[in-house]
Amino acid sequence: MTIRMENYMDKESVRQKVREGYTQIAVLGNPRREGVSCCGSSPAAAEELVRHIGYSSDDLAALPEGANMGLSCGNPTAIASLKPGDVVLDLGAGGGFDVFIAGRKVGATGRAIGVDMTPEMLMKARRNCAAYTRQTGFDNVEFRLGEIEHLPVADASVDAIISNCVINLSPDKPQVWREMARVLKPGGRVAVSDLALFQPLPDGVATMAAALIGCVAGAALVAETERMVRAAGFTDITLTTKPDYINAVTDLDDPLYQQIIEQLPVGAKVADYVTSLEVKARKPGKRLQILGPGCARCTTLAANTEAAAKELGLAYELEKVTDLQQIMAFGVMTTPALVVNGVVKVVGKVLSPDEIKKVLQ
Ligand SMILES: C[S@@+](CC[C@H](N)C(=O)[O-])C[C@H]1O[C@@H](n2cnc3c(N)ncnc32)[C@H](O)[C@@H]1O
Repeated sequence: MTIRMENYMDKESVRQKVREGYTQIAVLGNPRREGVSCCGSSPAAAEELVRHIGYSSDDLAALPEGANMGLSCGNPTAIASLKPGDVVLDLGAGGGFDVFIAGRKVGATGRAIGVDMTPEMLMKARRNCAAYTRQTGFDNVEFRLGEIEHLPVADASVDAIISNCVINLSPDKPQVWREMARVLKPGGRVAVSDLALFQPLPDGVATMAAALIGCVAGAALVAETERMVRAAGFTDITLTTKPDYINAVTDLDDPLYQQIIEQLPVGAKVADYVTSLEVKARKPGKRLQILGPGCARCTTLAANTEAAAKELGLAYELEKVTDLQQIMAFGVMTTPALVVNGVVKVVGKVLSPDEIKKVLQ
């Protein structure tokens, strides 16, 4: 059967195909060979791959056996600026590789949550939890069964989202980015590594089931990725292409890449089409607007609001709205006023920081 990611009618068959592929990898190991590739390899080859991607000996030292399945195409834990106490979510956690690394970074007061839709992957990751706790002394990781398009995670509950070579597999990528925006706290951050395309793949590759499971055929264009991230409401977006990864996998004679090369125009390389891509972005903080003509009372309300937000440790963007027509558009007739995420909360009063804290909570 021909599987096309962009065809809406095929969404469920794409998901099914991907789940079958990763069930097989979880149960039987790499169906491809004992080499290095995005989608599964022997322990030694898996270690070689992730060292190439930039994982340190320290990252790998405390990993439970088998957590690194050689399925990664970047190093999102390195770019996520994780700190003790953070709640971090890994989309498509596989055997738990990045979750266990993130768990050590966020420490006893933090939490690392992995989500994966393949039950056999989840079982593998969960089996490794006891070894992780023995090695680190932390009991701060968990794995949830679910689709990244419908995350089993509460609204605004996560400080950082990581993901490694997964979003390309989704038949509904815009929905994945919207879900990420939903579950992140205001000011929360995204650090994603994935495969993306410089140009559309020839049909022979785009419809190859192995290339779908192998994280290539479903990949989005780099520019399209940026559009999806922006449309989901993220800010401070940076995309960094890392073409070396594809060259390295090609040089290691990965059999999938050999098959792909056969479908490309003569002389073309996989790296002409496919790249590893790092995406960093931030969910905007709470939107705080001070309405008023710039009077002293407006300045005091703005200062007290900032003090309250800082005391609460809140991520926020503060804007002073002085234009009369814009102020009236909020239905406000007396200033100063405080608007939180578009909702008028205080009118005609200068509240103290403590009073504003109650409004913001
Ligand atoms: C290439 S592997 C990456 C695993 C892991 N991130 C790593 O680096 O080792 C892709 C994983 O994503 C999962 N996955 C693919 N599509 C998914 C979806 N739509 N929802 C949830 N999990 C998905 C697969 O089951 C598989 O475990």
